[in-house]
Amino acid sequence: MPGVFTIASVAAFAALTSYIAPSIRHELKVVGVGRDISVSTIADAANYVKIADTTHCEDLHYYAPANLLFTACEDRHTRFGWFPPLGSFEPPKEGTKGSIHVVDPETMKSIRLSFQNFESTFVTHGIDVIADPTAKNAVYIFAINHHPNPEYVASRREHITKSHSRIELFRHVIGSSTAKHIRTVSHASIETPNDIHAVSPTEFYVTNDHFYREGLMRELEAIAPAKWSSTMHVSISDLTATDSAGLSVKTALTGIKNNNGLGHVYGSEEVTVISAERGILYRCFDDAKNGTLRVEESVHLDSTLDNPSWYQDAWASEGDDKSGYVLAGLARGIDLAGHAKDPAAKDPSLVWLVQHAEVKGEWNKKVVFSDDGERLRTASAAVIVGIDPKKEGGKRRGWLFVTGFMSENMVATKIDL
Ligand SMILES: *[C@@H]1O[C@H](CO)[C@@H](O)[C@H](O)[C@H]1NC(C)=O
Repeated sequence: MPGVFTIASVAAFAALTSYIAPSIRHELKVVGVGRDISVSTIADAANYVKIADTTHCEDLHYYAPANLLFTACEDRHTRFGWFPPLGSFEPPKEGTKGSIHVVDPETMKSIRLSFQNFESTFVTHGIDVIADPTAKNAVYIFAINHHPNPEYVASRREHITKSHSRIELFRHVIGSSTAKHIRTVSHASIETPNDIHAVSPTEFYVTNDHFYREGLMRELEAIAPAKWSSTMHVSISDLTATDSAGLSVKTALTGIKNNNGLGHVYGSEEVTVISAERGILYRCFDDAKNGTLRVEESVHLDSTLDNPSWYQDAWASEGDDKSGYVLAGLARGIDLAGHAKDPAAKDPSLVWLVQHAEVKGEWNKKVVFSDDGERLRTASAAVIVGIDPKKEGGKRRGWLFVTGFMSENMVATKIDL
């Protein structure tokens, strides 16, 4: 999810310059200046499902081996008060808990997991889900937790760190209704965590979406050409330890502006890194196998972006492969800063499907979903679950699931691929 969108300041910056340089013009397009937001692709009600009990869910993952979706939600409207990535610092009540949900793409029902061994306040953000290699029917779930700093909650002093953001690791047996807490990962160099890509239950990447947590420097960070965010690589040597014990943390990638969502491509070692404010997808690889990422290619889209996913076409044939990146974003990123504390605001949403073009090395970028914010506000992740063409009269279709970090519900619509 975008960190605080001080992108309004990009527009102010543009207005200050005597002419608008092409790069700034592109940035204005990315944040939605001049975009028609009245269009909604949710036209055919028969192919639209509003999934109950999915309020303010940010990230969404498809776990193909079990044909299940996983998401992390806030349930209540906690984010309008406390959400450090959006610069909202009114702490929630101690013990306030977001939730992890399993959504069945066949029944369209969401099941909320109950926590075992986990008493902490839990403010959700990015997650990842990965198989437990030692058990056939279990997964590990990594989840960011924007836990408030107890010292700030007690003193409300301005000049201390307000958030003690960290990562929680859970284990879930498929089909059960519980998630067991395994350990907490916190570290001085994981300050503004946003999203996670798990390589294994003991190795993951995490983005720090901004360098400065708040204040004037953060405003400047949003408009300055400096590239201050980072992606860290974490190895866990002891799953029974907690906080910063039994860990090693290294910088995997720097130099990207507001790096944010993380993903990966099926059957590949690619780590997909998203620059939210710039609307850029970076295809990255760990060549040296030491946790350091190298950017192989950058793909530019015309909107802000968030958590990426990859759709793997199980019915692909030579010359007819519908696989691609599924990228959720804001149609009007420029409005986000003004809407961050407003439960009534509508933030229109877009989802892109980015597929290999016929010309090798090029990409087809098409909008497969848009909504004016009425039914899906602030799109932050999207996943496609393909449908057997036999059930669709030979047509290539899929169910598209979209979450929004300030949306009342997640939604699903049937789309052409
Ligand atoms: C990993 O290998 C790359 C390429 O040799 C090198 O530039 C980088 O510094 C190494 N990183 C670590 C964390 O050892």
